[in-house]
Amino acid sequence: MPIVLKSRDEIAIMREAGRINAEVLQVLVDCLRPGLVEKELDEIVRKEFKKRSVTPAFLGYQGYPATVCVSINEEIVHGIPGDREIGDGDIVSIDLGCVRKGFVADSAVTVAVGNVSPEGRRLIEVTRESLRRGIEAARAGVRLGNIGAAIQAYAEGEGFSVVREYVGHGVGRQMHEDPQVPNYGNSDSGPVLKEGMVIAIEPMVNVGGWRTKRDSDNWTVRTLDGSLSAHFEHTIAIRDGEAEVLTLP
Ligand code: MF3
Ligand code: CO
Repeated sequence: MPIVLKSRDEIAIMREAGRINAEVLQVLVDCLRPGLVEKELDEIVRKEFKKRSVTPAFLGYQGYPATVCVSINEEIVHGIPGDREIGDGDIVSIDLGCVRKGFVADSAVTVAVGNVSPEGRRLIEVTRESLRRGIEAARAGVRLGNIGAAIQAYAEGEGFSVVREYVGHGVGRQMHEDPQVPNYGNSDSGPVLKEGMVIAIEPMVNVGGWRTKRDSDNWTVRTLDGSLSAHFEHTIAIRDGEAEVLTLP
């Protein structure tokens, strides 16, 4: 069951979790530059989370070994921050989750570092806009499929493809709760969205085809055809009939 926020306290804590996650994600974005070693991002998260009295949602999740996912260029999601340096012209996806008093917030952005190709920049903008449209489609009383349909129509209309094998999700007391929130599919399908529901919407958009493969590290997911991929994610709550974005600083 997805979390449905009832008490004022629960809403307040989810808002805190979302704000803190967004603040720390912004700290990471501000650090990005060619030559930064991926692992440094993990170290920053540990320090910034401690300062803000939250714990990492990802560390130890199904054995995941870091606090943050760093996925570069044709990597889609779940890249483990390692000894690799970020290069000039890379597009870098950063995905972060925190736990505040038992409540989870989850969000992601893709950033152009240095001299990125026009296609890479357009991919980032289209993916950001597809998330905005997905959020706009999330309203009390409509079916969940409206979200994915809005994302898919826009991203495909721009000539890109939408990843199928990884999806958004309910979030709150657990990082991954029901329902799944696909970034594709038919409007008027799926469960009806209700006041107080909390979900993470997270389109992953590829320049080439939608198919993926996983590395031998069992985490890193990349495009099968080697094309660029971008990822944006927000945690939202349905409040007063509309989506309230919780993961804003
Ligand atoms: N934010 C990611 C998602 O919702 C979770 C990362 S999985 C982890 O898919 F193992 F890295 F935590
Ligand atoms: Co997520």
